[in-house]
Amino acid sequence: MRNSKIVGVGKYIPERVVTNFELEKMMDTSDAWIRERTGIVERHWAKEGEETNSWMGAQAAKAALDMAGMTPRDIDFIVYATLSPEFYFPGSGCPMQVHLGIPGIGAMDVRNQCTGFVYALAAADQFIKTGMYNNVLVVGSEVQNSGLNLSTEGRDVAVIFGDGAGAAVLTATDEKNKGILSSHLHADGNYAKELWVEKPGSITYPVVDKTHVDEGRIYPYMNGRFVFKHAVTKFPEVIYEALNANNYKAEDLDLVIPHQANERITEAVQMRLQIPKEKVFSNIHKYGNTTAASIPIAITEAMEEGLIKDNSLVCLAAFGSGFTWASSLIRW
Ligand code: UT7
Repeated sequence: MRNSKIVGVGKYIPERVVTNFELEKMMDTSDAWIRERTGIVERHWAKEGEETNSWMGAQAAKAALDMAGMTPRDIDFIVYATLSPEFYFPGSGCPMQVHLGIPGIGAMDVRNQCTGFVYALAAADQFIKTGMYNNVLVVGSEVQNSGLNLSTEGRDVAVIFGDGAGAAVLTATDEKNKGILSSHLHADGNYAKELWVEKPGSITYPVVDKTHVDEGRIYPYMNGRFVFKHAVTKFPEVIYEALNANNYKAEDLDLVIPHQANERITEAVQMRLQIPKEKVFSNIHKYGNTTAASIPIAITEAMEEGLIKDNSLVCLAAFGSGFTWASSLIRW
């Protein structure tokens, strides 16, 4: 069976920088608290009406296509991961296709929050492995700032999230032991309400009303400590699952790219794997948690920094709402 490999990556970061100090003016928080608990120094916020979810996705996609030496017309299929689509439906894959000028090809949205990009990459990989498509565009994009409760009540979540987009172009290869070696996808819906946005949702008629808005049920809720505890367990577990499936050990890894949820989670993962700090990528200080966009943005920056070379063994791993968690082991 043939494999799929990443031949281009790209990112789009919104222009507006929002520092911790700026957040201090909106809610009862402090730069010291945010840095100490999360490692975040600043994040970027998309501009209303201009930097939309699908438009940012298209900019990241164009950069990824440039690196791949391809044009949008070379793409056979789109897999688009986001928790913040511009509409309740359709998902953002369809409007992004219009920005890229390639109507007609299939576009599938993936709703797996922080784990979305790893799920999307796994789906794209399978489409290529089975021979259905040759070139698949995988995008993760988020506009979080329009959905945050920026009062003190919402501070635990509001200080963490940021906006941005990342993309990867996946193409077929006949090279054995190259590209995506395996993907490992998990979910446990028992914990859906520990990290969620309840409204709008079809369980009530109508999907959202003034009471929901007044009660703040339209904002993300996170049981932070509970999520943290699960994350520090599931990240190493799913990375070891990928290593074991391919007969590798942690010391064989050239780089781990975890979803950027919290610098303390990343440090815990590094300690559990017992690998040097430089082998676990981190850029959360600049962007906060950009959910489905964090891994493709991180891959792009790791490549810019020369941390991923031909033949590098790279593990992507994520944990988030659902709960969902997943990994992907890649021989570059
Ligand atoms: O993307 C994947 C899913 N997300 C995650 O993986 C995130 C996982 N969770 C976390 O990263 C951490 O739990 C947080 C960063 C969200 C919170 O850190 P924590 O060390 O778990 O703090 P905490 O929730 O236990 O809160 C400690 C204190 C509380 O005050 P009291 O009760 O001790 O008086 C909070 O009210 O810090 C308070 N607090 C804040 N203070 C200043 C909560 N948020 C803030 C804030 N600024 N933004």
